[in-house]
Amino acid sequence: MKIRVPATSANLGPGFDSCGIALSKYLFIEIMEESDRWEILHELGSEIPNDESNLLLRVALKLAPTLTPRKIRMYSDIPLARGLGSSSSVIVAGIELANRLGHLNLSDAQKVDIATAIEGHPDNVAPAIYGDFLITAFDHEHKQTYVVKHHFPECDIVAYIPQEQLLTEASRNVLPKTLDFSTAVESSAIANVMIAAVIKGNLPLAGKMMQADRFHENYREKLIPHLSTIRQICEEEGGYGCFLSGAGPTVLAIVPPEKADKICRLLHALETNAAIEQLQIDREGVQVF
Ligand code: HSE
Repeated sequence: MKIRVPATSANLGPGFDSCGIALSKYLFIEIMEESDRWEILHELGSEIPNDESNLLLRVALKLAPTLTPRKIRMYSDIPLARGLGSSSSVIVAGIELANRLGHLNLSDAQKVDIATAIEGHPDNVAPAIYGDFLITAFDHEHKQTYVVKHHFPECDIVAYIPQEQLLTEASRNVLPKTLDFSTAVESSAIANVMIAAVIKGNLPLAGKMMQADRFHENYREKLIPHLSTIRQICEEEGGYGCFLSGAGPTVLAIVPPEKADKICRLLHALETNAAIEQLQIDREGVQVF
């Protein structure tokens, strides 16, 4: 059995801690023969544990503590700590592993509740489970997650993925503790129009609203010096809009397919060590083969 989980990008600008899309980069887990102990075979670096202390198995064994140990192979092209949902992909894979091997029969809504409780926000885990475009809300008081999935309009996504990692905690530490009332109202209105424009298939307006975020990108820009240059290239070349992927440092540009090659070439010309990748929306979310 193999489990495949897509990368994700949270926020889309003003949809802070709420909106997310699934992307065509993947974590694969291959479940192999039973063994006398859990062992994860991977080439993801020595800092990723290969025993029960790996996040995958911590999640799976919390949900199904009596599972028989197995050998597991893990591959991923989702880079760590770049704002592409790498830890969410592992959490979702761990839930699915427990679900299948432990015959838990979890619904997608239950998987989202469990994953959100572990991750803290639903904006990465929900698209990793459902695929496509998710609008979510987490009610902290009642520990309840609300999720709406919708088709994201056809487009290409150009990802600028720096070599350097940025931990979500560091990127959240630069955010203010409070927003004044009028900024909060304006920010919420911008997010509402962004979501409505995506749903109507109006990517030019959605992209404009993605760039008008007031919740987090202004504060994070000092950690992400490349954001304004990428935004300028995207605007000059007819892209719909750019935003920080999750807590960064990756930046995504939503672009018409015929513009993607040129925008990629211009980003490569920035003499950066960042990876520039052309991605698509993943429509399926977690899959088991
Ligand atoms: N929405 C989070 C943030 C990242 O921007 O800090 C993913 O949960």
